[in-house]
Amino acid sequence: MNQDSFERLDRAVQGESGGGLFGLLKQIKPKLGGTALILAGGLSRQRAEELISEGLIDLAGFGQAFISNPDLVARLEHGWPLTPADRDTFYGGDERGYIDYAPHKG
Ligand SMILES: Cc1cc2nc3c(=O)[nH]c(=O)nc-3n(C[C@H](O)[C@H](O)[C@H](O)COP(=O)(O)O)c2cc1C
Repeated sequence: MNQDSFERLDRAVQGESGGGLFGLLKQIKPKLGGTALILAGGLSRQRAEELISEGLIDLAGFGQAFISNPDLVARLEHGWPLTPADRDTFYGGDERGYIDYAPHKG
């Protein structure tokens, strides 16, 4: 990206160009050339697929859902329900919230 691209990206991030996240992605994606764009943050499988099929991102990242669903990939693949993460157990203490989430039982 050149300086002009960075300035427009900065304005988009600040919300000055309108369009929210969708507008931001539309602005930056064409500037990336062959560089893959990974988006993470509050994504569902459906939203991730929409953004990928719209050509706005290349890959979707999942964070909290991976903590509370040890079999997240299988759950997304099969449309199984996701276990919500317990935020109170984030950032340490003991094993709670890290090794006690059960895999999906069909
Ligand atoms: C417990 C926890 C710790 C995280 N720590 C970091 C971190 O140290 N640095 C970072 O860049 N992102 C961190 N993240 C953000 C994740 O890398 C990821 O971008 C984010 O969780 C994706 O959003 P999602 O959880 O809504 O899927 C953390 C997320 C969680 C849930």
